[in-house]
Amino acid sequence: MSARRCANPADTVAAGRALAAWLVPGDVVVLTGPLGAGKTVFSTGVAAALGVRERVTSPTFTLVRPHACANDRGIVTLYHADLYRVESLDEAADLALGELVEESAVALIEWGERAEALWGPDHWEVRFTIEDDDVRELALTAPPGRAPVTGWAA
Ligand SMILES: Nc1ncnc2c1ncn2[C@@H]1O[C@H](COP(=O)(O)OP(=O)(O)OP(=O)(O)O)[C@@H](O)[C@H]1O
Ligand SMILES: [Mg+2]
Repeated sequence: MSARRCANPADTVAAGRALAAWLVPGDVVVLTGPLGAGKTVFSTGVAAALGVRERVTSPTFTLVRPHACANDRGIVTLYHADLYRVESLDEAADLALGELVEESAVALIEWGERAEALWGPDHWEVRFTIEDDDVRELALTAPPGRAPVTGWAA
């Protein structure tokens, strides 16, 4: 686990960009932390780095939104999910996010801890803590066996 302090929203966007550099097709990234912690702000940075052109907003009312990507890393789609309103593990399982990412996509899952049982040990986790009005701490855990993300805890 490695922690990064983000002093403003732009820092959190930069953290998303930093993580995106390490993502490969099939990766699932669980984003945990309270309302307003910056999970969606972070997601905009990941999306920008993967070549998503449309605006990434909170998918709260749709649960999961696919975004087309333009990059040379084999990541064709970014699935951005928000499980805040999911009422059961079955409802989350029906989204089949684990299967959707298999070939050529990655998934960012806000409130993903609500369906922890679905992800298995092989996922990324970014745990957000609100330190102050504008300060957030982002604690990153990589899937087992993956190289550490250099440049994360700058
Ligand atoms: N360092 C920071 N990083 C990210 N956001 C920040 C920071 N400082 C202030 N903010 C503000 O906090 C809010 C974060 O909102 P965001 O929608 O990203 O939270 P969220 O974790 O996705 O919440 P939710 O659980 O409701 O989806 C924004 O209004 C943003 O401007
Ligand atoms: Mg959000």
